[in-house]
Amino acid sequence: MPFPEGFLWGCSTAAYQVEGGNTGSNWAAWEAKKRLEPCGQAANSWEMWREDVRCLQELHANAYRFSVEWSRVCPHPGEFYDEALERYAAMARSLRLAGIRPIVCLHHFSEPAWLYERHPRGWLGEEPVEHFLRFVDRVVLALRGEVSEWVTFNEPLVWLMFGYGLGHWPPGLRHLFSLERTFLKDGLIDRVARAHREARRLIKSAQPEAKVGLAQNVADLEPARARVEDLQALQSWDRLVHGHLLDVLGSAGELDFLGLNYYTRIYVAASRLLPMGAMPGYGELEAAMGKPLFHLLGGRRGEGARTDMGWEVVPTGLGRVALRLWNAYKVPLLVTENGIADATGLRREDFLRDHLRSLAWAMGQGADVRGYLHWSLVDNYEWGSFTPRFGLYSVDRAKAFKRKPANGAKLYASIVKSNGAVL
Ligand code: FCB
Repeated sequence: MPFPEGFLWGCSTAAYQVEGGNTGSNWAAWEAKKRLEPCGQAANSWEMWREDVRCLQELHANAYRFSVEWSRVCPHPGEFYDEALERYAAMARSLRLAGIRPIVCLHHFSEPAWLYERHPRGWLGEEPVEHFLRFVDRVVLALRGEVSEWVTFNEPLVWLMFGYGLGHWPPGLRHLFSLERTFLKDGLIDRVARAHREARRLIKSAQPEAKVGLAQNVADLEPARARVEDLQALQSWDRLVHGHLLDVLGSAGELDFLGLNYYTRIYVAASRLLPMGAMPGYGELEAAMGKPLFHLLGGRRGEGARTDMGWEVVPTGLGRVALRLWNAYKVPLLVTENGIADATGLRREDFLRDHLRSLAWAMGQGADVRGYLHWSLVDNYEWGSFTPRFGLYSVDRAKAFKRKPANGAKLYASIVKSNGAVL
């Protein structure tokens, strides 16, 4: 297996999904409004982060991506909470002392509730960019001695599509039928690109040697049928959810690395009735529309086995996507998420082996992949529910949040320890 020395092996988490107690987040307000299962104490990682470091050590990990919770660090506009920043710095320091490289994400979906109280249109206006940059500035000042790899945004298109397109996530805005205007033409994507560019400039001025990237969710897209129209629909969907942002940033040299979050394959069919002329076969869309309408509009789901999220398991897609991104942008890649919701844990070992073999294949074809971070270290709050179990460590929320290795943890530890030799 072609994993070079120094390959990064580890896990990813996100602050809101594991820390607990983030009552100032717009997600906490959303859960109450929509009567979703509340995130509450999540996995209690804000108190138990040392336990998380211990789990990472047990896995022999040498890298960990976590995020900083904006609403915790900045509970009111312009007001920063130094104690929170100090705790993040202590976390990063302990990780480094344990030989685990901290990779810090600055925006992972959750935002301060005050941002939307002040600016209900959110990122449809300019104001959030300035607030975000003030937050980034303080975080970098506090962590620059400990952290030199930064992810500005996690899956900006997933966040924007759910929050501003479908309206299923906060701020709950629906611009599904004006995707082109809202997202593409000097729209939301370009605003996020600007926030990334300026955040990167801030980071580099504080830490010239820092590496700054973003994490993009990239699905393995396939045409629903072997027809030119479906291929064209696929291309316009690809441009919207993957390509436009990467084209803007990649061609301007604004990415030191590209984080790849890979989970599944999506079939895309042509549809004159739908925005972008495309019917992308996401399970979430099928659930929102109902099966009959979904199929009437040409929606196709993959036939393979599915995870507890309903996502089709397509390991070869990881290699395909990695190779495609490498060939298109020639920017070093880091797999920043890949994992399986599997309450039984019985499918996690095969999932790991098959996806890592596929990644190794892409590397053998020349893709420059620097690491693999599994989603996730511990069971987490999955944006509305605790039911999906992604953790290599299960968390017993009724019993003091005790962490216990889940199926797959042992195998992952041996893969990591052998630098992929046992695959
Ligand atoms: C990704 C998100 C992450 C988690 C996984 C399962 O889209 O980045 O927060 O929810 O999916």
